[in-house]
Amino acid sequence: AIIRRLDYRPPDWLVPDIALDFDLDASATQVHAVLSIVRNGTHDRPLRLEGDGLLPVEVKVDGRTLGPEEWALDGGTLVVPLNGQSHQVETRVEVAPDSNSKLMGLYASGGLLCTQCEAEGFRRITFFPDRPDVLSRYTVRMEADKSRYPVLLANGDPVEKGDLPGGRHWARWTDPFPKPCYLFALVAGDLACNADRFVTMSGREVALGIWVREADLPRTAHAMKALKDSMAWDERVYGREYDLDVFNIVAVADFNFGAMENKGLNIFNSRYILADPETATDLDYDGVEGVVAHEYFHNWSGNRVTCRDWFQLSLKEGFTVFRDQSFSADMGSHAVKRIEDVRILRAAQFQEDSGPLAHPVRPESYMEISNFYTATIYNKGAELIRMMALMLGWERFRASTDLYFESHDGQAATCEDFVRAMEEGGGIDLSQFRLWYEQAGTPHVRAMLSHDPATGTAELLLEQAVPPTPGQPDKKPMAIPMRVALFDPASGRHQGDQLLMLTQAKQSFRFEGFSSAPILSINRGFSAPVIVETNRSQADLAFLSAHDDDPFARYEAMQQLMVNVLIGRIGGQAVDEDAVIAAIRDTATDPQLDPAFVAETIRLPSEAYLGDQMPVVDPDAIHAARDALQQRIGEALEPLWRDIHAGTKANAFSLSPAAKGARKLRNIALHYLVASGAQDGPQIAFAQFHEADNMTERQAALATLANGASDEREAALDIFYNRYRDDALTLDKWFQTQAFAFHPNTVQLVADLREHKDFTLANPNRVRSLFGAFAGNQWAFHHRSGEGYRLVADCIIALDKINPQTAARLVPPLGRWRRFDEARAAMMRAALQRVLAEPGLSRDVTEQASKSLE
Ligand code: ARG
Ligand code: ZN
Repeated sequence: AIIRRLDYRPPDWLVPDIALDFDLDASATQVHAVLSIVRNGTHDRPLRLEGDGLLPVEVKVDGRTLGPEEWALDGGTLVVPLNGQSHQVETRVEVAPDSNSKLMGLYASGGLLCTQCEAEGFRRITFFPDRPDVLSRYTVRMEADKSRYPVLLANGDPVEKGDLPGGRHWARWTDPFPKPCYLFALVAGDLACNADRFVTMSGREVALGIWVREADLPRTAHAMKALKDSMAWDERVYGREYDLDVFNIVAVADFNFGAMENKGLNIFNSRYILADPETATDLDYDGVEGVVAHEYFHNWSGNRVTCRDWFQLSLKEGFTVFRDQSFSADMGSHAVKRIEDVRILRAAQFQEDSGPLAHPVRPESYMEISNFYTATIYNKGAELIRMMALMLGWERFRASTDLYFESHDGQAATCEDFVRAMEEGGGIDLSQFRLWYEQAGTPHVRAMLSHDPATGTAELLLEQAVPPTPGQPDKKPMAIPMRVALFDPASGRHQGDQLLMLTQAKQSFRFEGFSSAPILSINRGFSAPVIVETNRSQADLAFLSAHDDDPFARYEAMQQLMVNVLIGRIGGQAVDEDAVIAAIRDTATDPQLDPAFVAETIRLPSEAYLGDQMPVVDPDAIHAARDALQQRIGEALEPLWRDIHAGTKANAFSLSPAAKGARKLRNIALHYLVASGAQDGPQIAFAQFHEADNMTERQAALATLANGASDEREAALDIFYNRYRDDALTLDKWFQTQAFAFHPNTVQLVADLREHKDFTLANPNRVRSLFGAFAGNQWAFHHRSGEGYRLVADCIIALDKINPQTAARLVPPLGRWRRFDEARAAMMRAALQRVLAEPGLSRDVTEQASKSLE
């Protein structure tokens, strides 16, 4: 069945209060629910309570047990005809957490019992109107064996607890804030707590707890710091204060995605909580900080103001991603954070937007909502908020978010509500801007700068086009905010950054006072999520790569310089590589620059990004060209790489931005040094691997070695495995590094690793480490034999029976067949068809695979 946005209808029945009673047990948990329900408006429709895999043991209305003829099951939904305006409805069900391999609803993970309800997992716990516009006050009582489950946590504040005969105990929690059921959570288990406190801006004390297995306590410090920094940041930047007396976070090993913002009880994939220098890279540390912040920020953007229906998902996700990006930028470097975020957007969202699964930020329809937790909803959604913030300016944007939070507090809102608050608070008209929520596809902007020396006038002609996407053949012109600057090549300066609003298909802008032709810096700061094509020469790009004062534009100029060389090479043209090498040398030796920025800038664009620049992706040609350029850069600047590598070796580990930047630069220097083919390359990499006192350097050395055959490669992989075989999160890196390597045998290696005793389909992190990484390895995944497609399709088929949500995430790489040559495309389609032919296929995978073939 297809669910459509325009079919939205308010709920027939409201549930102002719910009391839940759990008798917890890994194989048989009893759930007793008492719902106070109220008819919403005048209608004579029965009460419908969604259930997924539930059988009612008992149904009561106003204290009376109903006979089997007084209710019905329609699919999984419990249907109860009712006469009055309000009733008390009770149900009892039994669920089996330890056989819940989908990890939705109540499930077992490493001896713990925990929940995941977003988007539609609550219906796997109890019968309920499982939709985000039904908000209820929750009281939760839990009872369990005290030795197995000494800690009992739920949303809100703890109110009472006690011991029971037979080694059992109980606890009651209440959450005073009405919330949709997707924010419900409970956790039971043997957990240790990193306890801390935070005093809010109005002086209230909040008890903070990060709950993990005892042995993991030493790895929770960074998450706790991130939590306190986030709480202070949301007060300072958005005026948002925390609202309960406790805030708990629990880390679990088996989790379908990053983390979940359940009210007062966030549940996390342990990879976004646990970090220490021995096992976490700097990227992992940043991931912890960013995800802790993201989930915390949801308390306002998501929980206090929630979504009316799932078509509005980007209302909370886009805004919250924008908020966590801004936070991380404030905690570290704005320039580097922007570069990283754009790289992610291009790698994940642009690909989605140009393929069969393209959808608007506010989708029109879906089969399975889990498939819509996408880069478009999250990352493009964040770009929409960023564009509005740019157009309004910070102060008016902040006034508008205040207005938004005040006028929708306690409500289930829509994207339209948000845009309207921006209009009212910001005093601008966003009618055309709304198209960003409606139209899928990445806009292309062609920018042609011309110059008339006679009049000293420069003219910038901008043309935009939004490509057709499934269900949207014709597009209207969008409102695109373009930050530009025109550089005078003689002075190396510009006369100010301007914000141009491109609102028509074709529009030109004039600039006076240029005796000689200026150089165009465009989409500065990546002001709009578009693809820009310009008529700039390699010389212009080299100039910008050395002089642009906008760090993103400077990075972009360098990347474009590299892209042009590589695409030229692939097309058999001779493009001057020396300009690239010179630009890299100048950047790498500029003492004014932040080493982290240098490291980002001198890195070659990924193979996938190069593929995106070609009409038909040729994975082998891309790999060969990129590899060759890498080697040339390595050789031509070999002494520099040796210098940087030696000069960035730290005496003691630190997480300061300077230390992190030095490690990033050190790793890229090592990479070029090894790429140069220098005789001692593998030894230097192995020495770094061996001597490193942190995972950032150790893993980078391992990854560099993993690209080619050498004794050092085998030795490093062995040592790594034996050292971390009992640490799941770190062992994931061992799988991931091999699956992501540019090794000629990667396909076979992945096939072998699938049979490794430490590989399991039951743990989503492990699956992503092997198959997620492999599917992102363009050269290997698209091996001309088609073996890569077979491996991934096999994995999807096997995993679908265990965890369809995670299986569905592996489908999109196969769906990109239109971008490849006919031979590959046919094999990719065949793989998708084989998946679709599987009997009993989940709705999740069916939707992704069938849309991919359309
Ligand atoms: N809301 C969670 C987060 O911040 C993610 C929930 C994902 N749910 C899903 N079914 N994929 O970001
Ligand atoms: Zn989120």
